[in-house]
Amino acid sequence: MKYAIANWKSNKTLEEVHQWFDQFAGVYQQQPELEVVIGVPFPYLFQAHQKVTEVSLSSVSLASQDISAFPFGAYTGAVSISMIKDVIKYAIVGHSERRQYFHETHQEIANKVSQLLENQVTPILCIDEPYAKEQLAALDPNSFSKLIIAYEPLEAIGSGTPQKPEEIAPIVASINQLAPEASILYGGSVKPENVAEIINVEHVAGTLVGGASLKPDVFAELVRLSS
Ligand code: PGA
Repeated sequence: MKYAIANWKSNKTLEEVHQWFDQFAGVYQQQPELEVVIGVPFPYLFQAHQKVTEVSLSSVSLASQDISAFPFGAYTGAVSISMIKDVIKYAIVGHSERRQYFHETHQEIANKVSQLLENQVTPILCIDEPYAKEQLAALDPNSFSKLIIAYEPLEAIGSGTPQKPEEIAPIVASINQLAPEASILYGGSVKPENVAEIINVEHVAGTLVGGASLKPDVFAELVRLSS
């Protein structure tokens, strides 16, 4: 299975969410063996879930961009997996922006992964090379087969310039050695112009896409070039 996963980050009004799905439905071509996932901000997940059925995009899955490290309980402001698991198949965890701006630790991220796996939601665990080993060491190795790992070099995120295939290859190979059963994605300035060369790198099973997922026609083009 290959993946094209959109991460809208903290963007879009409710009206823009509806417009995005309306427009995407008009240009999206389903590709064989390609799972298309949209990482939607928390407040829009339920409406997005209804919307994908309404506009006949049922083959498209939803992801949250984070999840609480705790189950239901006295954790003010937290979104527990039980609240949203009916509308998502995936959840992005440990994104470098969460680590940088919200000071998430490896252990906290490992707890989020556990919450997801206990609730049959697939984690999309973001890592960068310097701490990949440490982050994976905080997890139960028996969970590796249920993970999607997104290798996202910090300097490539939002910069417009992805790493070169020859830079991506050795790092993805080393992640594959640590977690051979996990699917591995690349993220960081992926666009329609460069997606083909990135997904051709050995062990890369797809991409996690920020900026280029915000416009439905651009993301549809990226999807078309991803299988
Ligand atoms: P970008 O973001 O595609 O805008 O570089 C990727 C990400 O942060 O997941």
